[in-house]
Amino acid sequence: MAETIKGPRGVRDILPEESWKWRYVLEIARKVAEDFGYQEVHLPIFEHTELFSRGIGDTTDVVEKEMYTFIDKGNRSITLRPEGTASMMRSYLEQGMHKSPRQPAKLWCVGPMFRYERPQKGRYRQFWQLDFEAIGAKDPLVDVEIIHLSLEIYRRLGLRNLEVAVNSVGCPQCRPLYREGLRSFLEPRLDKFCPTCQGRYDRNPLRILDCKKEDCKNLSEEAPSVLEHLCKECREHFDMVCRGLEVIGIHYTLDKRLVRGLDYYTKTAYEVLSGDLGAQNAVCGGGRYDNLAESIGGPAVPGVGFAAGVERIVLTMEQQGCSLGEEPRVDVMVICPEPEHRLQAMEFLASLRKEGIGSSMDYTGKSMKSQLKSALQEGASGACILGGDELTRQVVGIKNFRTQEQKEVPLAEAVSYLRNMLGLGNS
Ligand code: HAM
Repeated sequence: MAETIKGPRGVRDILPEESWKWRYVLEIARKVAEDFGYQEVHLPIFEHTELFSRGIGDTTDVVEKEMYTFIDKGNRSITLRPEGTASMMRSYLEQGMHKSPRQPAKLWCVGPMFRYERPQKGRYRQFWQLDFEAIGAKDPLVDVEIIHLSLEIYRRLGLRNLEVAVNSVGCPQCRPLYREGLRSFLEPRLDKFCPTCQGRYDRNPLRILDCKKEDCKNLSEEAPSVLEHLCKECREHFDMVCRGLEVIGIHYTLDKRLVRGLDYYTKTAYEVLSGDLGAQNAVCGGGRYDNLAESIGGPAVPGVGFAAGVERIVLTMEQQGCSLGEEPRVDVMVICPEPEHRLQAMEFLASLRKEGIGSSMDYTGKSMKSQLKSALQEGASGACILGGDELTRQVVGIKNFRTQEQKEVPLAEAVSYLRNMLGLGNS
């Protein structure tokens, strides 16, 4: 016999036991989005490969090693989106949002992203991101709003012990000078760094600061800080971000090593970290990307945003014992003891559903006893027993599992009796 097909490595099935927790997280995020004036968009899952290679940068790990790229039947190179920012900017430009008086466009989306990474706890090849972007304003207070927004989601979800790390990565004005200063520091020590860092020396030396290996971290401890090399504009921008965060009471640490793995960042870069996640400890990351629009062929348009991994949020919440709302259950089960009355039971079920009473029935021919047992196991609040005897008398036996009370109710009054019993009010 052929082997049963399994899912690819690094992808997860989000089953009913978990999906209601996701719904809770997404509902809170959606509410926070509304409260901050962000509008939801749905963007495609695949784009032209060039959008990411030019937008995210050719020398990043994401573009070099992690993209799911294929040639489609029209001979075009297509990539499953590894992140949402480049797509959001593409859409902003393509749909002419830059011409609208409503700036910045405050947009958000949620959905799966794809990266061919080594799977481990909190790191998957298909994962979901909540992605928020404010496109079209330079104001450092928009950076503050974005950082605040991410933290407000976590606050409402009840997450604790989060650390906010903030840095500035400068701009094309000041970064080349800093890069040279950094290279001069690294060069005499380079042979002691890991091969990955050595490979980054020429192409992207800032990323060496981001290496997680202990030896490399120690070696770059004394490296010059980008914050000391910012140009006047970047310095003023960063100072204002810090002041804004302080004014609204956001505690943060300055992390001169925080450079982020995507090349489009300019000025502000930040991450929110959770001590409860292990190695993959970032619950979100983001920053400003004032040159992204130009790198994908558009006019100069500033932007700032963040993305948060939904799996990591749920993992952290479980770890911290946060409330994740309540698992949805049907209100009542319709119990039909005799198979010959199943059609009448179906008709009764339909009448309950029409009136907004969550209900279900057995389709597997279980005995009345085990139908009642499953109703209890599935967390229903009650059961409606509809046998031949009840049907002849045009009644239904209603059992309230909470009070253990059982009553016969005329079929015509069942809906209002149940709505009352379930506290649903009159329909
Ligand atoms: P990123 O840091 O690559 O940034 O990803 C953002 C978040 O997505 C991470 O902090 C993490 O929570 C989650 N994440 C990333 N990779 C994985 C993975 N393999 N498995 C599970 N979760 C993952 C971006 O994607 C930028 N687009 C963020 C941004 C928006 N910057 C400006 N605007």
